Amino acid sequence: MERTLIILKPSAIQRFLVGDVITRFQHKALRIAGIKMMQLDETILREHYAHLVDRPFFPFLLNSMMLNPVIVMCLEGKDAVEVVRGLTGATNSRKAAPGTIRGDFGMSGQENIIHASDSPENAEIEIKRFFKPEEIFDYELRIFKSLYSPDEL
Ligand code: PPS
Repeated sequence: MERTLIILKPSAIQRFLVGDVITRFQHKALRIAGIKMMQLDETILREHYAHLVDRPFFPFLLNSMMLNPVIVMCLEGKDAVEVVRGLTGATNSRKAAPGTIRGDFGMSGQENIIHASDSPENAEIEIKRFFKPEEIFDYELRIFKSLYSPDEL
């Protein structure tokens, strides 16, 4: 099963959206492999957003992501990266489709509620960036046979 990394951004905490966002992932039946609250600092953000450090908005992004703690999650399921990106919607919340997390809860490109890994390769890197190995749990979901057909497992 594939894993992906989600960050509930500081604005999601400020806006009391934690429950609503996590409920979407729960209803989709993505297994929570890891979840914790943490305060991000400039070091980890410069690594995480290395592809954006030269963009004019980068200082705003840094401030926004350090405003208060975030919640990081590792979710697991078949094609989890693609499934979560679909649930998340386009980067700019104003252009994100209704029904997606950003489309329903956001109005901004920067304050776009959550970060979600964009490829399985980056997901592996991002999970290691935010979680220690012992913070990822490999427990069994007993309803598996109700979630997937045998050839999907
Ligand atoms: S891009 O624009 O396609 O090269 O960047 P992308 O990899 O999609 O990441 C964009 C992330 O930067 C955050 N951000 C902004 N994007 C666009 N415009 C502005 N002004 C801006 N400010 C911040 C945006 O929230 C994306 O963060 P993540 O965490 O990846 O969703």
